[in-house]
Amino acid sequence: MPNVVIVSGSPSSISRLNGLTGYAEEKLRELGWEISHLHVASLPAEDLVLARWDSPAIIEANKRIEAADAIIIASPVYKASFTGVLKTYLDLLPQNGLEGKVVLPLFIGGTIAHLLTIDYALKPVLSALYAKHITAGVYAVDSQVKKLDAGGYELDEDLVKRLERAVLGFAEATELFRNSKTSIGS
Ligand SMILES: Cc1cc2nc3c(=O)[nH]c(=O)nc-3n(C[C@H](O)[C@H](O)[C@H](O)COP(=O)(O)O)c2cc1C
Repeated sequence: MPNVVIVSGSPSSISRLNGLTGYAEEKLRELGWEISHLHVASLPAEDLVLARWDSPAIIEANKRIEAADAIIIASPVYKASFTGVLKTYLDLLPQNGLEGKVVLPLFIGGTIAHLLTIDYALKPVLSALYAKHITAGVYAVDSQVKKLDAGGYELDEDLVKRLERAVLGFAEATELFRNSKTSIGS
């Protein structure tokens, strides 16, 4: 079964972004995928800020990315881009760190004004890391994700439909890509 790492670039552990990543996780689990999380803000801050390539925590995180078939890159929009926290980690991936991975972007912003952040800010960085299979992502706005008092998140109907389409497209692309690698290799 494919294995996916969900990389979250939110500085907050209770971000509405979790509503999006939680939905993707649930869908992929139903398909039998192996899922793990990499919350960048949980990595040692000094290693990120001082770009310590030789830090054990960074080496371990990079190994998990290397072993994955697919990656979800999730971020809130900060200042018309993805977060600086996320960039500190992407800077520490090897130059070809996303080669051969299928990548799904999941973003959330306060307004629709920065809808193109995935295309204009994230995709050039993914390309620099040799990602060649970036599937259609989802950009949500805060008003589409309600934080529930009891914990958890409620997503509006339109967002659920878009997420479902995006996650299934991502899953299909990953399966196709895995099968093509197997048949080329055999
Ligand atoms: C420092 C900072 C900068 C932000 N910049 C933008 C922005 O440029 N465009 C936008 O649409 N939302 C922006 N936002 C709003 C967040 O993207 C949005 O609220 C996101 O869902 C974070 O939600 P959370 O507080 O639940 O983590 C910004 C928020 C913060 C804290």
